[in-house]
Amino acid sequence: MADEPVVSLEALLAAKEIVVTCGSGGVGKTTTAAALGAMAAVHLGGKVLVLTVDPARRLATAMGLEEFGNVETRIPREAFAAAGVQPRGELWAAMLDTKQSWDDLVARHAPDEKTRTAILANPLYQNITGKFVQSHDYIAMERLYELHSSGHYDLIVVDTPPTRNALDFLEAPSRMADFFSSRFLRLLIAPYRSRFVNMASKPFYSVADRILGSAFLQDVAEFFILFQSMYSGFVQRANAVERVLTDRRTAFIVVTTLESAPVREAEYFIDALSSKKMHLGALVLNKVLPSYLCEDGAADVARRLCNEADAVAASLPVDLGDRDDVARVLAELGESFLNFQVVAKREAEQRSELAHVADVVAPVPYLDTDVHDIGGLLQVGEAVWRVHA
Ligand SMILES: Nc1ncnc2c1ncn2[C@@H]1O[C@H](COP(=O)(O)OP(=O)(O)OP(=O)(O)O)[C@@H](O)[C@H]1O
Ligand SMILES: [Mg+2]
Repeated sequence: MADEPVVSLEALLAAKEIVVTCGSGGVGKTTTAAALGAMAAVHLGGKVLVLTVDPARRLATAMGLEEFGNVETRIPREAFAAAGVQPRGELWAAMLDTKQSWDDLVARHAPDEKTRTAILANPLYQNITGKFVQSHDYIAMERLYELHSSGHYDLIVVDTPPTRNALDFLEAPSRMADFFSSRFLRLLIAPYRSRFVNMASKPFYSVADRILGSAFLQDVAEFFILFQSMYSGFVQRANAVERVLTDRRTAFIVVTTLESAPVREAEYFIDALSSKKMHLGALVLNKVLPSYLCEDGAADVARRLCNEADAVAASLPVDLGDRDDVARVLAELGESFLNFQVVAKREAEQRSELAHVADVVAPVPYLDTDVHDIGGLLQVGEAVWRVHA
């Protein structure tokens, strides 16, 4: 069973402990993650957590919660009841608050109380954690590691932020480990490590301090010296996260729309996953136009509406409105149908090219309304849940 290809998202989610949705900006990563989490809670049971790392509050709204932060919160059964379902399991959600997560990390892993207080009080700490080495991506991985190793959840569905380079997220743990052992950092903090500040470097630091503000570099150096006390923990966890991400407990779901830029990004990401030996579980094609747009018969009708608008208008009930207006609307409708058809045909080509890149390739139709409640999420989920290769 373990070696048979997984042929539906239902089977994939039943078999995995961590599922990560990724893809370029705005394609539906957050929606897909929440939809799959909701489906797993409803149909598979157990405790399912959706971890969104997207600072936007969309998921909170989608799940009927006004606001939830770093702490995992259970989605009330009433939110499911409103959509007419009774979940077998529990759906939990958490949103990644970068600053809070860094504070928690320091609190958990600082070697002693004194170091912990010193780091949190360091004037540069908050500024730096917001900026250095993709701290957002890194902290998402730390949080995932922490939640996964807690063993509280049967399945964790992880949403990813819209990264310019999709690899940033995956590479964050090893980059952080590299950073803490980098030559640059050693050089930066070397003079401060010594109680006898090197006479040659002293003028440089005092000039830099005068330009950058009082004790700027000293604060920076102090910060990193304090952080280095947690260095081995960083490296250890970075390695552990990487191990979990590459083993069979984890699958990646690449989400894309069928426009050319996101498709290119998806293909790039799929290649990257395979070169990192990470498991591509499924490709979700989101916001796909309906197939009737490609039908020849419908196109003939649309062309006739354009070419024979006056005659068609004349054959319609008089009380519809002014004949010229009716004819203009009909011609406009026909024209826009034909435009949609061009896009739908291009989408169909993209779909056939992408049909074999993953064991599961699942299209989600473009819904009329935004996805903003459990019902909407389940509608998206139902579209992909049992799709076979
Ligand atoms: N199949 C769909 N039909 C209609 N609207 C959709 C569909 N999927 C997602 N949406 C809507 O598209 C918007 C973007 O979706 P979502 O936030 O999930 O994308 P994202 O990839 O997480 O974006 P970001 O990269 O900004 O985090 C949302 O308003 C969502 O409700
Ligand atoms: Mg998102």
